[in-house]
Amino acid sequence: MTENKPAFFSNSIARMGMVALVAGFATVLVLILNANITKRKDEARQTSLRLVELDEKTVDPAQWGKNFPREYDSYQRTVENYGTKYGGAGSEGVPLSKLKGDPRLPIIFDGYAFAIDYNQRRGHAHMLFDQRVTKRVTEKPQPGSCLHCHASNTVLYRQEGLKNGAPGSLDEAFGSPNAQAQLMAGFESVGKLPYKDATKLAQHPVACIDCHEPNTMQLRVTKPGFIRGIDALARSGDPVPHLPSIEKWRKGERKEAYDANRDASRQELRSMVCGQCHVEYYCGPKTTLFFPWNNGLKVEQIEAYYDSYTFPDGHKFFDWKHARTGAEVLKAQHPEFELWSQGIHARSGVACADCHMPYVREGAIKVSDHHVRSPLLDISRACQTCHRFPEAELKARVEAIQDRTHDLLLRAEDAIVDLINDLEKAKKDGVTEAILAPVFEFQRKAQWRVDFINAENSMGFHAPQETARVLGEAIDFGRQGQLALIRLLATLPKVAKK
Ligand code: HEC
Ligand code: HEC
Ligand code: HEC
Ligand code: HEC
Ligand code: HEC
Repeated sequence: MTENKPAFFSNSIARMGMVALVAGFATVLVLILNANITKRKDEARQTSLRLVELDEKTVDPAQWGKNFPREYDSYQRTVENYGTKYGGAGSEGVPLSKLKGDPRLPIIFDGYAFAIDYNQRRGHAHMLFDQRVTKRVTEKPQPGSCLHCHASNTVLYRQEGLKNGAPGSLDEAFGSPNAQAQLMAGFESVGKLPYKDATKLAQHPVACIDCHEPNTMQLRVTKPGFIRGIDALARSGDPVPHLPSIEKWRKGERKEAYDANRDASRQELRSMVCGQCHVEYYCGPKTTLFFPWNNGLKVEQIEAYYDSYTFPDGHKFFDWKHARTGAEVLKAQHPEFELWSQGIHARSGVACADCHMPYVREGAIKVSDHHVRSPLLDISRACQTCHRFPEAELKARVEAIQDRTHDLLLRAEDAIVDLINDLEKAKKDGVTEAILAPVFEFQRKAQWRVDFINAENSMGFHAPQETARVLGEAIDFGRQGQLALIRLLATLPKVAKK
């Protein structure tokens, strides 16, 4: 190369001219850039323009929207319906029914409200409406606790807490002992109301104030179930390398409860704000709503906690008695936080918000997309910031995981339906529930595992290998149950079977 310089460069005058020209261009470029940067800085400044004073009483997102129009605009777009292969609720006005989509489910949930009405989830803007109209609410009595994850209740709980004798006033900072006492007292009292009364207290779906401190806009958690649940998790021995602030708290004196708002990093909070609702929980009439994290976040740790839990009436924990078999079984609900915790992304420090609220650049401003939805609708921002593969390839990788999960899930559901059918037949033949009790344990274990994956909303993506493990166990427990039943029936005298 150096030997064969092009003729042009051997002419020194031409070379000098080139240098001058390049320098001139560079100067102009710097000037343009400077002007651009100044403009961008001005734009950036605009984001912190305060048109409205926000405080611990400002619930209405429209008020916050006056100061933060970009976030507010995208927040409002959660009203839009969509469907991906496994995500969303379909683009029709009414969400797709899970029960109609899978004929096994009404059998698996027989006797429970989920057999009446169970739909695909949709955007945040719908959460309060969808809860009010579900037949699970209109046809069955439900507790006020349901509201915990379907409304903005940071202020609502504090107000109700004050009415119930908690100290102080609404003006106190959220983190103050008085405000926390108000929050917890309101959470307890609203939870005890019938749902139809409790929901009258609420006006908005999840709102800015539930995730942000109004003065600094810092992320925060406000949901009582999470505040208690994450402390229970911290006190457990379950390793949580993806939540380093918990590991750190464990090594300390543990005099005060683990407090995400004091201890967690910003990156941890970018997942914890979602973990306020996208989790497994108990929400029924028998006791206050809780997140079952006392042993850890894995499926068998949660199961062990439920198995060791007795209700105030002395009965072992269960969600419903299966109508066909009589087994006392468990229902899982959307354990996204738990399953994400078992996956490679959590382990690599990737938060829910990284994929579901990716940054959108507007001039110099990086805005978090508050249109929370499937990342498959925005692969370039949600995934390609880290993965340098074409969109089609990334989508194919996700769908490969989801298709495999779906196949395995249906096999596991088949195993349970088979076990249910066998148990139902044994009952019709006169075998009592007391005799069948050991086999019920298999139905309970298999059902819990199948549902943990079915109710989780990523169809395996959040933790593919863990998902396959759980479904493998579900199939095994279902088939083990059938074998146990055959052996049990063989030990019974002929009369008892007739
Ligand atoms: C690495 C990226 C990534 C991370 C991190 C992540 N998710 Fe997801 N999530 C996905 C993908 C991909 C899907 C599948 C979307 C689809 O099928 O359309 C999904 C699906 C979902 C869905 C269902 C979406 C729909 O359209 O129906 C919910 C809800 C969800 N995730 C919540 C969470 C929560 C909560 C966290 C954190 C605890 C989290 N996700 C972390 C990528 C991610
Ligand atoms: C206050 C509780 C709450 C919080 C906090 C919350 N969600 Fe949700 N989320 C819900 C509910 C409830 C729905 C279902 C609403 C419906 O179907 O009517 C939902 C739906 C979703 C969906 C499905 C959207 C669609 O259009 O299908 C995604 C994705 C999602 N949430 C992700 C997240 C992420 C990520 C976070 C954290 C940044 C988060 N959510 C925080 C309660 C919450
Ligand atoms: C710990 C938080 C939490 C509690 C408590 C909670 N939900 Fe939800 N709910 C969610 C999340 C997250 C979603 C969206 C993900 C999904 O649908 O799996 C959802 C979705 C729903 C949906 C839309 C999809 C469907 O299942 O048809 C309805 C309806 C609903 N919940 C009703 C209720 C009722 C009734 C109660 C009380 C028994 C309740 N929720 C309690 C978090 C919660
Ligand atoms: C479910 C929780 C949640 C809700 C509800 C929510 N946000 Fe956010 N918001 C986030 C997360 C997560 C981030 C990213 C924060 C970070 O990385 O520090 C964020 C970031 C922001 C930022 C910082 C700049 C940016 O865009 O990254 C502003 C401003 C903001 N939100 C405004 C709002 C407003 C206004 C509302 C109500 C209309 C709102 N948020 C509702 C979770 C939420
Ligand atoms: C903030 C960075 C980041 C983002 C955003 C991100 N990923 Fe990843 N992803 C990782 C890291 C880190 C790994 C672990 C493997 C590695 O170290 O390369 C990983 C692993 C994966 C794997 C292998 C999964 C497994 O269990 O082995 C898939 C598939 C994947 N990502 C898809 C996606 C998709 C699809 C999105 C968008 C919805 C996404 N990722 C968003 C960083 C990210």
